[in-house]
Amino acid sequence: MRRDEQVRVIRRLMDHLDHQTNVDAGRIAQVPVSVYTDPERAELEWRRFFRNHPQVLGLSGDLPGPNSFFTSSDLGAPILCTRDKHGVFHAFLNVCRHRGVIIETADRGSRRTFTCPFHAWTYDTTGRLVAIPRQDHFGSVDCTDRGLVSLPAVEKHGFLWVNADREGRIDIDGLLGPELSDELDAWGLGDCIRTGEATFPHACNWKLANDTYGETYHFETLHRNTLANGFYGNVQTYDTYGVNHRMGLCMRRIDEMRSEPESAWRVLRGALPVYFLFPNIQLIMTGEGPILVRLYPEGVNPHQSRSEINWYVFPEDRRPAPTEGAREPLGSRMQAFAGIIQAEDYVAAASSHLGAVSGAQSHVVFGRNEPALHHYHSVFNAALGLPPIETFRT
Ligand code: FES
Ligand SMILES: [Fe+2]
Repeated sequence: MRRDEQVRVIRRLMDHLDHQTNVDAGRIAQVPVSVYTDPERAELEWRRFFRNHPQVLGLSGDLPGPNSFFTSSDLGAPILCTRDKHGVFHAFLNVCRHRGVIIETADRGSRRTFTCPFHAWTYDTTGRLVAIPRQDHFGSVDCTDRGLVSLPAVEKHGFLWVNADREGRIDIDGLLGPELSDELDAWGLGDCIRTGEATFPHACNWKLANDTYGETYHFETLHRNTLANGFYGNVQTYDTYGVNHRMGLCMRRIDEMRSEPESAWRVLRGALPVYFLFPNIQLIMTGEGPILVRLYPEGVNPHQSRSEINWYVFPEDRRPAPTEGAREPLGSRMQAFAGIIQAEDYVAAASSHLGAVSGAQSHVVFGRNEPALHHYHSVFNAALGLPPIETFRT
């Protein structure tokens, strides 16, 4: 984040604290509860947002060196992501070109070649078919025609982007825009080192889990014994970048910055930036490194979803000095943060889902202090070609 932008975020948070205000959308919004429960809506989202849309499957640190790989089934197809011996990122359908068996079954690791468990056809990290056992008996096939099926794959700003549709497009510049591209680039996400992961299934629509990231209005109730110890609730900044956004959460230690000159301010000392990257990514920038949250529906089922959470640390020379940093071992605070999300936010999201299917009310309502929720649902509707969400001036 640019220096002037860091100062602006901290200054705005201090202003809100001083005047007991919060970010203000100027309007209340509402959406029908059916956006969370309707099977047709779920089917449309699955197709447009997950089956054929650029999707972040990880950060560069998920492929830490030449010949590293990971597999994914998050987008409804078996996908193999590799970094070849020259460091280039690739994504393939993880399907053997002989009789269609899944080739690589490990979650991640390092290999020069991938050998199918059925008859040992073997592919290299660029997807080329390099060995067919007993080809004299099998018969002649043109290996150049039988490589792994490539998917569009781009490594940019430290993210690994894939489109599960082999004819699909990835236009990262168009998706992020220049301002957000520059800002994400400046975090140096590509140098971050992967340290852990967790999968949290949730019995709710994926958007309800996503909604819990969209405001800090709930901090002093839902998180009163946890995050509220470190954060001021109902105080945040909010900026949109096309279909994406950035929230700035207000840490209580921002108070220590008031006695410091603005020239010494670093945003991560007093704020927690949380980026939403359309359609399903939450990127949380902690002082130790980023937490990447990927939210997925379970296919076309509107009632089940899950979060794939990966945490990463900045390289050693960019970690906070001991006086600013963690008293606990590196990374453990990030794991604790993810644990709170699971134990508190996703419990609330599952509860909202029960409320949605109960028939108690036709709509849920988003306040003036919840602009991110207005934004999520507005950009989802726009991308699906649906009418804008309803808003009311109050
Ligand atoms: S199905 Fe893969 S080698 Fe036969
Ligand atoms: Fe929360």
